[in-house]
Amino acid sequence: EGVLTILGLETSCDETAAAVVRRHAEESGGFRGEILSNAVFSQIREHAPYGGVVPEIAARAHIEHLDGLIVRALEEAHVGWDDLDAIAATAGPGLIGGVIVGLMTAKGIALARGLPLVAVNHLEGHALTARLTDGIAFPYLLLLVSGGHSQLLVVEDVGRYRRLGTTIDDAVGEAFDKVAKMMHLGFPGGPAVERTAKTGDASRFHLPRPLMGKPGCDFSFSGLKTAVRQLIEAQRIEAEGELTDQLRADIAASFQATVADVLADRVAHAMEMANLPEGSRRFVVAGGVASNQTLRARLEATAAERGYDFIVPPVKLCTDNGAMIAWAGAERFAMGMEDGLDISPLARWPL
Ligand code: KG4
Ligand code: ZN
Repeated sequence: EGVLTILGLETSCDETAAAVVRRHAEESGGFRGEILSNAVFSQIREHAPYGGVVPEIAARAHIEHLDGLIVRALEEAHVGWDDLDAIAATAGPGLIGGVIVGLMTAKGIALARGLPLVAVNHLEGHALTARLTDGIAFPYLLLLVSGGHSQLLVVEDVGRYRRLGTTIDDAVGEAFDKVAKMMHLGFPGGPAVERTAKTGDASRFHLPRPLMGKPGCDFSFSGLKTAVRQLIEAQRIEAEGELTDQLRADIAASFQATVADVLADRVAHAMEMANLPEGSRRFVVAGGVASNQTLRARLEATAAERGYDFIVPPVKLCTDNGAMIAWAGAERFAMGMEDGLDISPLARWPL
């Protein structure tokens, strides 16, 4: 009564993941989320030699690992098939081969076990994670920053998103990944840039801050990326060869600080545009890039200046995982939403 137990599968990029979460409906009309298990297999080692995610390799790795992860997720949760109320899976957006593996697996389970199927938009998974971890109410302002997406949205309800701004070129995570590649820092780029930046001087290089101060809250990162490339080339010529570790660190730190400036500016604009009532001034950051400590600290300060509560899920729930998909599935299912077995996987699927 009032408790939903959901298995969630995530296979849209380079993490294969399965998790069991519970959604408790409380007598007060509120709710509470509980993660019973969250099994993730990161394919980083499979893709690292190529410097990026190879779709074909990703799809095959999902096939290899998903079944085992599902068994593990159920075991760790001490939950049997009969305890499940529904199965949720990412149905897009993402690398289509991987999405097919996860969604078809979920359909097979749904059919075999007579369980309802909930098709989840991966972005909705990121968007609703803060309700699983912090139990926050609607509405809230959301900055969603991952490898494929950079968006500012007002999350009004399950399935209801008001988009305020988006990137007009690269996603934030993509910019981190490309800058990492330019300096041969390794894959995935975001954590590598953050690590390298630790010993760097962020004020050494002044880089362009695209769209900063402009109206609205769209982002642009391709000009910044080009500026970093030119800076690296110029420094290589000066150094007559490879960059020193100190130069790398200074470039990474300067780049990261620039991104922080741009994001803080865009978020400040979004807070004005969102115009949320006093009791609803909540600001959530989600997506893989939200694990960056420098960006977090900067956005936290922006929120504090403007009287917003600041909410960031723990790192392992910011990067791709199964719990966020199970939770989004639980939220949808609690509202009576489910999908037929004829649902199609989607490579592109805006929120
Ligand atoms: O949400 P996510 O795990 O997958 C997508 O849905 O894209 O995000 C992955 C992205 C990658 O671009 C990765 O480089 C970036 O998030 N990322 C970071 C950090 N950790 C992951 N970017 C900056 N700093 C980090 N610490
Ligand atoms: Zn993601």
